Amino acid sequence: MLKEKKTTIWRRIQSLAWPEIIDSLWANGYGRLGPVLSRMECEALRDLYHHPELFRSRVEMERFRFGRGEYKYFASPLPAIVAELRASLYACLAKCANEWVSALSLTATFPAELDEFLQYCHDRGQTRPTPLLLHYRAGDFNCLHQDLYGEVVLPFQVIFALSKPGEEFTGGELMLVEQQPRAQSTGHVIQMEQGEAVVITTRYRPAKGNRGYYRTNFRHGVSRVLTGERYTMGVVFHDAK
Ligand SMILES: [Fe+2]
Repeated sequence: MLKEKKTTIWRRIQSLAWPEIIDSLWANGYGRLGPVLSRMECEALRDLYHHPELFRSRVEMERFRFGRGEYKYFASPLPAIVAELRASLYACLAKCANEWVSALSLTATFPAELDEFLQYCHDRGQTRPTPLLLHYRAGDFNCLHQDLYGEVVLPFQVIFALSKPGEEFTGGELMLVEQQPRAQSTGHVIQMEQGEAVVITTRYRPAKGNRGYYRTNFRHGVSRVLTGERYTMGVVFHDAK
């Protein structure tokens, strides 16, 4: 594990502005990580989409009424860059995840390292990897949803934009909707440059009330792509049943 931490990806992720990202997570339910991947890395990740042997399953969203477009879950072992991003991001988010479950009065405890967390998932039957690549063409969209794959849920997940807005596609914005108890919902629209990443709430955010914290319920989706093609990568930390 120490050797892995010395890679470029680990250093890059550890040097992000984590105090500000974590503050934004608490305040807004998401935090911008800023530019993380180079154009070449984005293109290399996009190219993986056309190698079916790297994936365990392919989902046509329209068939399940999830939206329109397609995504594929990586098979195990994950490509090296995906595995390093997942492990390094997890290490930076685990402490905050523990503070969130405590604020939400939930009982989960998240270990400091991804390996140990995945073992915990596997012991509970969540053994299939969840990082995925998504591909949208003009007219495609993703309905509001939550990425829950079993009882074990890390409260955060990270989305990487792999295509260049304005040039390679228009439309296709990341949308977050936060449902407040006994109140109307709030929407957030996040436009991301190619290579940018954002960490979002997977399910609940602890919002500060007069008498401690209460839960808001987050869902995310993608507005309709108007022109071109849009690729993204989703890094979910808990594995799936
Ligand atoms: Fe999702």
